[in-house]
Amino acid sequence: MIEIAILGYGTVGTGVAEVCDMNAAAIRRRAGLDIHVKRILDVRDFPGDRYEDRLTKDPADVFDDPEIRVVVETIGGVRIAYEFTKRALAAGKHVVTSNKELVAAYGPELMELAHENGISYLFEASVGGGIPIIRPLHKCLAANEILSISGILNGTTNYILTRMQQEGVGFDEALREAQEAGYAEKDPSADVEGHDACRKIAILSSIAYDQFVDYRDVRTEGIVALTQTDMAYAAALGSRIKLVASCRRLEDGRLDAQVRPTLIPASSPLAVADGVFNAILVEGNALGQAMFYGRGAGKLPTASAVVADVVECVMHIGKTPHYHLWHRDNPAEVAPFGETPVRLLIRLDPSTASDDPRGAIQAAFAPHGGARFVYRPADLSEGGLAFVVGEPEEVAEDVLRRALAGLEATGMKTLSVLRVV
Ligand code: HSE
Repeated sequence: MIEIAILGYGTVGTGVAEVCDMNAAAIRRRAGLDIHVKRILDVRDFPGDRYEDRLTKDPADVFDDPEIRVVVETIGGVRIAYEFTKRALAAGKHVVTSNKELVAAYGPELMELAHENGISYLFEASVGGGIPIIRPLHKCLAANEILSISGILNGTTNYILTRMQQEGVGFDEALREAQEAGYAEKDPSADVEGHDACRKIAILSSIAYDQFVDYRDVRTEGIVALTQTDMAYAAALGSRIKLVASCRRLEDGRLDAQVRPTLIPASSPLAVADGVFNAILVEGNALGQAMFYGRGAGKLPTASAVVADVVECVMHIGKTPHYHLWHRDNPAEVAPFGETPVRLLIRLDPSTASDDPRGAIQAAFAPHGGARFVYRPADLSEGGLAFVVGEPEEVAEDVLRRALAGLEATGMKTLSVLRVV
C-alpha cells in the first residue's frame, strides 16, 4: 500500500479523496498497489466530514512522516503552496498538483528540485482540468514539431460567454452561476481577466517548445469589456467569441503567445466547446491537427487528472521518475505582441468625425490590405461602424493600431477591437 497526503481540502482536494475511494479497485489494478489517503492538511475544521480522522493542521504530520510517499498539492496560489511543495520535494516525496499558478511561476525551480531528488513533480490537472493534455503533448506528440496550440482553457469564462451568447444572460449572473458550480478561482478576476488562461498557455507552450515560456510575456486580455453588441456582430459574421489562448512559432523563430477574446468561425473545432468545457487544438508537423476536449474545471474532473498523476508516481517508485524539465537558463523568446501578425474586427463610433467616415477608414487601412465593412446586425439600432482589417494577410498589430490612432485623431472613438481567426 502507498500512503499519500492531500494539502488543501477545497474543491479539488475533496475530489481527490473521493476519487481515491470511489475508484479504489481500478486504481489498484493500474498502480499495482492500494493508494491510501493517510493525511489531509488544512487550517480549517470540517466537523462531521467522512475523513475527519485524517485531517490535521500540523504540516509535520505530512512532511516528517516517512510513510507518506506522494503529496497532492491542491492549495492553490503561490505562497504556502510554494513553501510546502519545496518542503515535500526536499523530503523526497513525489508531488502532484493542479496549481497552474505555481507551475507557471516556479515550475523550473520545482522541476529541478524534483530531478535532484530522483522524484516526480507532475501537474496534468493544471491545464484543461480532467482533459489529458500535458502528458499527450509531452509524450504522445514527441515526434512532432508543434506548429501551434490554440485552446479554450478557462471553464469559468467559457461558461459566462456561452450563457451570454446563447441565453442573453448578464455577465454578473453567469459569473455567479460558475462560482456556485465550483469552477471559478477564489478571486474570479484571475478567470475573467484572462490570467488563469495565461498561466495555462504558458505551461502548454513550455512543454510544446521545450523552453520555459514566462507567463509574463504572454499578452493577456480578459472578457470583462465584451458586450451583447460584440456577440451580435460575431453571430453576423458566422463566428463565436471565445477566450482563446494561443501559441505559435513565427517564421523568425520567436513565439507568439496571446490570451484574448477572439472571433472563431462557428465551423472551427474549438467552437464546439461550450459551458465549462475546454478544448485544445494542437497542430503538429507530422500529425496535423488533434483536438483534446472535455471538462476543464470542477471537482471530480480535475481530481481525475490529479489521481492519474498519483498513479503515475506510484508506478515509477524505485524506477527512473517521470519528470519534465524546463531550464531557467533556456527561456523562450516571445515576440512583443505589437509585432505579431493579426486580423482584427474593429468597431468605431464615427459620429463626431468627417462626413465620409467610410472613405477615411478605407484610406487609413489601404496600405495594409484595406478594410472590409460588416453590415450592422438587423437587431441592433447602434454599434458604430464595424470592419475587419488584416486581410488577406495578417498584419502586425502595432501597424493596425497606428492606423486606428490616426482615425481617432480625427474624432472617431474606438468601441471595440477583437481578434479574428
Ligand atoms: N477557474 C478555472 C477555470 C479552474 O474556470 O477553468 C480550472 O483550472
